[in-house]
Amino acid sequence: MESLEQQFTSVLAEIEVDGRPLPETEIVHSCVVNNDFAKFTIVLPLESRLRQILPTQIEENIRNLPSISRVAVEVLEKAPIDDEPEENKASIPESEKSRQARQPQRTAYLQNYDAVLAVASGKGGVGKSTVSLNLALALQQKGFSVSFFDADIYGPSFPIMTGLRGVKPELREENLMPLEVMGLHAMSIGNLIDDEAAMVWRGPMVHQAVEQLLRDTAWPGGDIMIIDMPPGTGDVQLSISQFCELAGAVVVSTPQDMALVDAYKAITMFSKVDIPIVGIVENMSYFACPHCGEKTAIFSQHGAEEACRKYEVPFLGAIPLELAVREGGDLGKPLMNQAPSDSPAAEAFRLIADNVISSLDDLY
Ligand SMILES: Nc1ncnc2c1ncn2[C@@H]1O[C@H](COP(=O)(O)OP(=O)(O)OP(=O)(O)O)[C@@H](O)[C@H]1O
Ligand SMILES: [Mg+2]
Repeated sequence: MESLEQQFTSVLAEIEVDGRPLPETEIVHSCVVNNDFAKFTIVLPLESRLRQILPTQIEENIRNLPSISRVAVEVLEKAPIDDEPEENKASIPESEKSRQARQPQRTAYLQNYDAVLAVASGKGGVGKSTVSLNLALALQQKGFSVSFFDADIYGPSFPIMTGLRGVKPELREENLMPLEVMGLHAMSIGNLIDDEAAMVWRGPMVHQAVEQLLRDTAWPGGDIMIIDMPPGTGDVQLSISQFCELAGAVVVSTPQDMALVDAYKAITMFSKVDIPIVGIVENMSYFACPHCGEKTAIFSQHGAEEACRKYEVPFLGAIPLELAVREGGDLGKPLMNQAPSDSPAAEAFRLIADNVISSLDDLY
C-alpha cells in the first residue's frame, strides 16, 4: 500500500506549474499531518498569480484522499529561515512534533503584547473601524493596557475617528513614536501619508507598508493590541497573518444574509491560516428610537447569532444603530470616550469587551 507521502505526491503531481508537476518544483515547502488534518506550507512570491489558485487546487486534490478530510494551505513569501531538515518534509510526524509544526512559522512582530486581535469582516462598511476603536476603549476602561493598529492601508479611518487628522507621529532614532490618544498607543498610515496616496498601491507595496508600520513603530507592549483590518480577504489580511502571531480574530457583520456570507468568508480565511475566531459581533443590529424606545430591526436581526450557532463560534454581542456612534466617529469623539454613557450601544461595547476576554480565556 502506498504511504501517505506517496499518496500526497501522486495527487499533487496532477497539478502542473509551468509544465512541471507540482512536487518537482520548490513550491511546496512542507506538510504536517495530524489525524485527518493536513496542513501544507507553500512558498510563492507576493506578486505570483499562483497565490490565487494554487491553495484551492491543493486543497481539492488532497481532500480526495480517503484518509484526509481537512486541508489547510499556508502561503508564505519566503521559506522560513529555521528550516526543517529535508528528510522530515511531507512525512507523518509524532504528535508533539506535529503540534509544534502546526504552529505557523511567521515573522513575529508585536510579541510584547499578551494578545493581538484582528477585527475583520468580509464586507466593507459594516463597522469594523467603529467596533475596533470602541472595543479598544472599552477594554482599556476595564483596566487593560491597549494599543491600536489601523491596518486599513487603503482607507485608514483612525485619524478621523480620533480627531488626529494631519497629526504626524514623532520620529525618534529611526523609530516612529506611537500616537497617544484616549489612553491608547496607536499607529495608522493615515497619519503618515496623504489621504489618497495609498489607494493605488498594489500587493507588494502594501505588504511592505504593513511590515514597516509593525516593525518601525516603537510599540510599548501591553495586554492587548487591536488591529483594525481593511474589508475583505486580500493582501493586508495575508500580510498581517504572516507578520503577527494573532491570538484570534473578531469578525464584525451586519445581520443581513449577504453580510453573513461575507463574514463566513472571513472565518474561512482565518481558519485556513490556523487563526482562531474569537467570535462574531453583530453591528447595526437594530434601531432603538430615542423618543419612544421602540426597537426596529432595520437589517433584520439575530442573523449573526444564528451564524455563530451554525459555524460553532462564540457570539460576542449585538450593537444597535445609534446616532451618537456615527457622530462620535465623524467628530473624532468615539462613543466610548464620551462622558459616561449608558446608551444601549455603550452597554453593548462593554459586554462585548467582557465576552472577548472570556472567549480568549476559553481559547488559551
Ligand atoms: N452601530 C452604529 N450606529 C451608527 N452608525 C454606525 C454604527 N456602526 C458603524 N456606524 C457608522 O457606519 C459607517 C461605517 O462604519 P466603519 O467605518 O466603522 O465601517 P468599516 O467596516 O470599518 O468600513 P470599511 O470597510 O470602509 O473599513 C461610519 O459612518 C460609522 O460611524
Ligand atoms: Mg474601516
